[in-house]
Amino acid sequence: MKTALKYISVLVLLVGFVSCQKNSRPNYQYMPNMYQPVGYEAYQESDAFSNGVEAQLPAEGTIPRGDFLPFDYENTTEGYDLAKAELKSPLDSTQVDLENGKEMYEIYCAICHGKKGAGMGTLAKKELIIPGSYAAKDITTGSIYHTIYYGKNSMGSYANQLNENERWQVVAYVEKLKADLTK
Ligand code: HEC
Repeated sequence: MKTALKYISVLVLLVGFVSCQKNSRPNYQYMPNMYQPVGYEAYQESDAFSNGVEAQLPAEGTIPRGDFLPFDYENTTEGYDLAKAELKSPLDSTQVDLENGKEMYEIYCAICHGKKGAGMGTLAKKELIIPGSYAAKDITTGSIYHTIYYGKNSMGSYANQLNENERWQVVAYVEKLKADLTK
């Protein structure tokens, strides 16, 4: 008898729970924190860090994941000279894609340097900037890469617009332009 009563009360309780379901209005949620996300903000304040903000700089000496490779040459005249003397392209002739290099060059560089690299881009024609012709410059594979990476004087860096492979493709294209100009 006692067990029957137990079964019946459990059954009544279950039916009770199930009959609370009503599709026309919001239903009960048991343990809502299992369903509802906590609204953290990306840059909110946080006690977890000594300076009180969530956004932290990466630990010193670490590098980002993905196809990022550290660039060992510094943004100084010495770094430039060193890159100019010894830095070589990792691409061999089968990996160089001049069509692709041309496309990127014309997007990022031609506005100043001109499509042929003779220094007569739209901005140069308006005399807003004077990049000069590649033909007249003492540049090497390494120095071109260094210039794209850090910029040079009034030319800014293009390291953010082009990834490593793309930079080397553009370097190859600049070398081709220089060769064509000095033919
Ligand atoms: C806003 C205009 C501008 C753009 C865009 C620009 N450059 Fe330049 N670039 C210059 C100027 C100005 C100089 C001359 C800097 C100097 O030597 O004082 C220069 C110099 C250079 C040099 C010669 C550096 C040396 O060692 O003397 C190279 C190579 C070069 N640019 C490549 C590029 C490439 C590749 C791009 C595209 C990714 C690019 N530039 C985009 C303005 C520009």
